[in-house]
Amino acid sequence: MKRERLDKVLAHMGVGTRKEVKQLIKHGLVTVGGVTATDPGMHVIPEQDEIVVDGHTLAYKRWIYIMMNKPPGVISATEDTRHRTVVDLLPLEWANRVHPVGRLDVDTEGLLLLTNDGQLSHNLLAPKKKVDKEYFARIEGRVLPDHVRQFAAGITLDDGYTTQPAQLEILSSGPASEVKVTITEGKFHQVKRMFTALGLRVTYLKRLRMGSLVLDESLVPGAYRELTADELASLKGEEKEKTGE
Ligand code: URA
Repeated sequence: MKRERLDKVLAHMGVGTRKEVKQLIKHGLVTVGGVTATDPGMHVIPEQDEIVVDGHTLAYKRWIYIMMNKPPGVISATEDTRHRTVVDLLPLEWANRVHPVGRLDVDTEGLLLLTNDGQLSHNLLAPKKKVDKEYFARIEGRVLPDHVRQFAAGITLDDGYTTQPAQLEILSSGPASEVKVTITEGKFHQVKRMFTALGLRVTYLKRLRMGSLVLDESLVPGAYRELTADELASLKGEEKEKTGE
């Protein structure tokens, strides 16, 4: 377990800015293991030390795993100069510590995992791991069985790159169609560009699944919750299976 500066831990936990937490410490309002802290730079082990701020004990968790139903209009990043970001939707104690695992376009909705577990992130995003991502999409135009075959063969995008084979399932076909798409990569605007290459246009896109992690449909857009122990175990287990580690 890592030792960290007390002021940094308190700021990350959303107690206040570094400056504010220094003031709290100066005023004797913070205790560590029952002893009043005097030095903001003192080292603590947040998972282990009992840290009390103004009578409230901090519940520190080393690892954070959050499932969000990303709403449209927010950016999947930790900061942006113009738009709200997905972390702006979270309480400070999480917002300060997590990053989104991969990106969804600003207008895309659905499953987004946020965590501070860099290893898990890497394993879910690394191209060679081929973690599948499933989307629901509405398409302007008629989606046909031939498109399904083209998706299965891989689609050549506008920049000349040919995608890995992808699965396309037609839910309804007409002047506007509904489909499910499963891809194993995460190229920029990939799903939209795959349809563009076929002369079709995505009008709505929602991610339903990433590996074993399925969007909890009880989460309204913008809502989030921590992963359950089972969800986390299968997400990690799956990664082991695929890499053989
Ligand atoms: N593909 C896209 O085109 N956009 C997304 O947000 C995700 C996948």
